[in-house]
Amino acid sequence: MKPLNGSYNLAANLQEAEKTCFGVCARTQQRRQRSSMKSAFVLVTALAALTAYYVYLPLPSTVSDPWKLMLLDATFRATQQMCNLVHCLRLSHHLRVLNYVIGTFDKLEPPSSEHIMITDALFDGVEVRVFEPSPKEDRTLKRSVVYIHGGGWALASARTSFYNNLCRIMAESLNAVIVSIEYRLVPEVHFPEQFYDTFRATKYFLQSDILAKYSVDPGRIAISGDSAGGNLAAAVCQQLSLDETVTNKLKLQALIYPVLQALDFNTPSYQQNTDMPVLPRFVMVKFWIDYFNGNYDFASSMLINNHTSLDVSQAISFRGRLNWTSLLPSTFKKNYKPVIQSTGKAEIIQEIPALLDVRAAPLLAEKEIFQLQPKTYVLTCENDVLRDDGIMYAKRLESAGVEVTLDHFDDCFHGCMIFTIWPTNFSSGHRTRDSYIKWLSENL
Ligand SMILES: *[C@@H]1O[C@H](CO)[C@@H](O)[C@H](O)[C@H]1NC(C)=O
Ligand SMILES: *[C@@H]1O[C@H](CO)[C@@H](O)[C@H](O)[C@H]1NC(C)=O
Ligand SMILES: *[C@@H]1O[C@H](CO)[C@@H](O)[C@H](O)[C@H]1NC(C)=O
Repeated sequence: MKPLNGSYNLAANLQEAEKTCFGVCARTQQRRQRSSMKSAFVLVTALAALTAYYVYLPLPSTVSDPWKLMLLDATFRATQQMCNLVHCLRLSHHLRVLNYVIGTFDKLEPPSSEHIMITDALFDGVEVRVFEPSPKEDRTLKRSVVYIHGGGWALASARTSFYNNLCRIMAESLNAVIVSIEYRLVPEVHFPEQFYDTFRATKYFLQSDILAKYSVDPGRIAISGDSAGGNLAAAVCQQLSLDETVTNKLKLQALIYPVLQALDFNTPSYQQNTDMPVLPRFVMVKFWIDYFNGNYDFASSMLINNHTSLDVSQAISFRGRLNWTSLLPSTFKKNYKPVIQSTGKAEIIQEIPALLDVRAAPLLAEKEIFQLQPKTYVLTCENDVLRDDGIMYAKRLESAGVEVTLDHFDDCFHGCMIFTIWPTNFSSGHRTRDSYIKWLSENL
């Protein structure tokens, strides 16, 4: 019978040989094993090389835990790419999918504490999570922090372990009442809804009868937040300082690597950290566009500051307020070259005027508003596109006569403060958090 398949025939012959002669059989097996080991080796090497290529990022030598950061970044990048694919296939909004994935990864509940009571409540229709230190034993008036979580106005939640853990630790170590605002996110809502949610919840809390209900000292309340939460905290703090109906004023604001402006995506820190994990410049620009429900096609123009070129008249009055020449020390500028376009795309600001709204970009507020701000803490990381947003904010506050602490970390990256739990446990997370809580403890 004619064999249908050559390899079948070869295999059959081999099998025959194996049967007839043990020695030949053993050698054949060895050879087979060797060749399959060789192909497995080639495959593993190729996979490892591909993975290394995907994971490896040249990072500044000063970054602490570089390999851990590369792995975190690769995981986050891969997840984002998967979400973008889902978005392209028009199955769902990429940020909705990303938030869902983050929520699923977040099932590892951090240890709870018997000293802290956690309750969910509604403040003027806005969801909040309140962390109270052992309320039954002690009715003395406590300090308080209103906390606004980060995540590009689109991700995370007061309930995710990252933020639940942070607020619980803050409540415990400061013996303070922490109000963590569960504001609504992109794509469910866009600017100014995130701002309104955080503003309304904070204003509601500042009423004397509500403070009394939580045993909070009206003279010792801070507002705080990280990243996009720092943006909202700064914006809410500014607008509350202008609101004459609010009698209990905030004592402090504490901003953790806040995002504060969308006028210039080529500040020295944007240029120096263009591809830095976990927030490359392009991703930050897309978060801004999503916040305004704008058109992604604008991203490439915004990356080169075409949206605020010199011929865009709306931007003119803001330019002097964001002047890195006078606001940034030369140590941060390094070999920086300003990117100022003489002509650009005026239709971007026409379509998204909110890019220049101070409730979205608090760094652009006028001097008179800065003068009304309370004592401030700004934490910045060297390896962060948003470093200069924070430094310029601190400088403008200082120039307006506000007492400011700028707490700069040379070896840290954007977002590090929430990474304090396995498997994303970073020493930079512990150091920034300790420093932040220490400042609150000494100043609140
Ligand atoms: C920025 O500040 C520098 C130095 O103070 C000054 O010379 C320059 O004119 C300022 N630029 C703008 C646009 O205000
Ligand atoms: C930026 O604006 C200039 C002038 O209008 C235009 O020639 C250029 O193509 C624009 N580039 C991008 C990426 O939008
Ligand atoms: C997390 O990191 C901190 C600081 O680097 C360290 O003290 C702590 O033991 C670590 N915890 C775990 C569970 O790895």
